[in-house]
Amino acid sequence: MELIATPVDLHRAARQLPRPLALVPTMGALHAGHLALVARAQELAAGGTVAASIFVNPAQFRPGEDLGRYPRPFAQDRRLLEAAGCHLLFAPTAESMYAADTSVTIRENSLSQTMCGLARPGHFDGVCLVVAKLFHLFQPDFALFGQKDFQQLTIVRRMVRDLNFGVQIVPVPTVREPDGLAMSSRNAYLSKEERREAPILYRTLRGAADKCLQGGITRSELEGWMSAEIGQARSSRVDYAVAVHPETLQPKTDLVPPMLLAAAVFFGTTRLLDNYLLDHANGTL
Ligand code: PAF
Repeated sequence: MELIATPVDLHRAARQLPRPLALVPTMGALHAGHLALVARAQELAAGGTVAASIFVNPAQFRPGEDLGRYPRPFAQDRRLLEAAGCHLLFAPTAESMYAADTSVTIRENSLSQTMCGLARPGHFDGVCLVVAKLFHLFQPDFALFGQKDFQQLTIVRRMVRDLNFGVQIVPVPTVREPDGLAMSSRNAYLSKEERREAPILYRTLRGAADKCLQGGITRSELEGWMSAEIGQARSSRVDYAVAVHPETLQPKTDLVPPMLLAAAVFFGTTRLLDNYLLDHANGTL
């Protein structure tokens, strides 16, 4: 696996890489969810290039968030990617990605104004900025994103449409622990007690999906039920628990597919996300 550490070197190398090229953007601290992205990338880029990036992007963290303590097990991540059959790893420093006087940015004005965007203003602009940079550098044919971060996936798709990037965004289903907890690099922050309680998040989303399919419930009743259910866990604090349209992320008035049930919940000081997608076939995507 080739390791490239600067945008300049990547720009040069990317032009020569066998195509198609599938890109898996990450912030490292890799788990089985990331490896599922790499496995899908391999299918899409058969005969071409599977590339990954590891970059803990300062632009998407707000002051006081976990930028400083975000796990960075680089040697282990590198081994995992190599073993998974990745051909190229781009792992730049923040200084090489952002000039000290960076002044051109990206702003998303609709989809980021709800859900996680309310608690983390500017976060998705930072995600768009780094993803746009990666797309410029790699010129990928495919880019893979996990469905756990559904709002991110929706916003990246919108950016690709609105800024005419020539890349196909490929969603990959969430990988879960045996008890249902969605894999996340931030699960490592959970205490024993918080880890024991955290599966209530996905259990509740599934329960909410069942309630929707049964009918006879309004959106505010459903959202209230989700918050109360999750709130039973002592270490939990619900940031939001909502039923929205999966493309617009606007509240659903009729609780019928397509619908995204999504929640962000603190367990102690760790904020976890999860969602359940009801599509037209009443299943997950
Ligand atoms: O989902 C992530 O890990 C990050 O938000 C991403 C897409 C790699 C951009 O920094």
